[in-house]
Amino acid sequence: MNATPPRAATSRVWTPNTWRDCPIRQVPAYPDPMALDAMERRLGKFPPLVFAGEARRLKAHLAAAAEGKAFVLQGGDCAESFADFTANTIRDTFRVLLQMAVVLTFGASLPVVKMGRMAGQFAKPRSSDTETQGDVTLPSYRGDIINGPEFTEAARIPDPGRMESGYFQSASTLNLLRAFASGGYADLHEVHRWNLGFVERSPLAGRYRDLAARIDETLAFMTACGMTSATTRDLRETDFYVSHEALLLPYEQALTRVDSTTGEWYACSAHFLWIGDRTRQPDGAHVEFLRGVKNPIGMKVGPSQEPDDLLRILDVLNPMNEPGRITLISRMGAEKVGGKLPALVRAVEKAGHKVVWLCDPMHGNTISTVNKVKTRNFDAILSEVRGFFDVHAAEGTWGAGVHVEMTGQDVTECTGGAHALSEADLGARYETFCDPRLNAEQSLELSFLVAEELKQRRTPPGQPAIAAQ
Ligand code: PEP
Ligand code: CO
Repeated sequence: MNATPPRAATSRVWTPNTWRDCPIRQVPAYPDPMALDAMERRLGKFPPLVFAGEARRLKAHLAAAAEGKAFVLQGGDCAESFADFTANTIRDTFRVLLQMAVVLTFGASLPVVKMGRMAGQFAKPRSSDTETQGDVTLPSYRGDIINGPEFTEAARIPDPGRMESGYFQSASTLNLLRAFASGGYADLHEVHRWNLGFVERSPLAGRYRDLAARIDETLAFMTACGMTSATTRDLRETDFYVSHEALLLPYEQALTRVDSTTGEWYACSAHFLWIGDRTRQPDGAHVEFLRGVKNPIGMKVGPSQEPDDLLRILDVLNPMNEPGRITLISRMGAEKVGGKLPALVRAVEKAGHKVVWLCDPMHGNTISTVNKVKTRNFDAILSEVRGFFDVHAAEGTWGAGVHVEMTGQDVTECTGGAHALSEADLGARYETFCDPRLNAEQSLELSFLVAEELKQRRTPPGQPAIAAQ
């Protein structure tokens, strides 16, 4: 690792308000600025959703991931919705994330840091400000915290009242997640039993059984050593963090607070916030806002990301080069990852920035079917993940994890996978409000394949890895 010190920190004063002086993209046109202002004040008095100490703990876990001592799994909805807000959907997404994490823990032989795209993942960047159906053109849907998905003029008007609904939905989602994480639902033995069920149902059971059996043996060995759920907290509870794209800055600012223990600013709408691929301009409002909060933060890097710009942004967002502060989420697309990612990884290494590299294999692989349905193919997703690990292997850096859009439900939004969903199947349960998600089976399958990959890469040549078929 090159030890060049980071360049000088930006000396501009930061307050939670300074983003308002910067150029900004993806702004909803609220028709009533007074109502927006009133809502910001109202939210400003509400209790924070997370505690700064939790964000610091996550940052420490991410610092370990930056050093190759942990793996990261970040996943959940593209967009949470007000209509689909039930205990079952929260529980099922949480459960599948835990199931994936167990498999990945085994694959990587490392702790897995778990972050949901949950409890606040509402605001969506759009490629176009408008949507046209037939001869009607309306403002685009920007996520439930801004406007409604229905294709009517009234639904598409941005409504600040939705921020309050988003806040309360986030609060109750987080409440349930905290209860699940520490109340017994996350028991490792239970999670493993669910995985065995998945393996038996899978058409590729033969392939996955070996890995599942090895986890079985490991758990049995731990039990024999006296490490049971009753004796060991880590077997019956888990750490689970929440994250979302910090897109709607009036909302984020309203929930930004000074931490009484350190006197520092924290965004208290989630533990981890990220900047999207469309709002990562070095002098833009989103970078400005996030530079001043102390949370661990992420940034999507797509194919248009230039290495020089990336270094500029890293200097702004992490002038002290604090490990765990920055997670770069590569979303190049299966075709481009091999061509685009190496230069970025090399530039970051050369400048000495300590970052966590994650692979989002979803957003660069979205395609439209002949019937204009947005989908993603499982093979393309897997191929981008493999390409991402190949780049890191070639550069001698650590590909620290994956970021996926998934759900615990049995939807039909992405094609492929062991059950071989075809384009003709997409109509059956296509329920997303935004991008197509992996369903529960596809998500688990991805984690088994990634675990296999990680195991193989960690196995020295000449020794048997997981039996591949
Ligand atoms: C997303 O994560 O839902 C998203 C919009 O991603 P990106 O900013 O990478 O396009
Ligand atoms: Co998305």
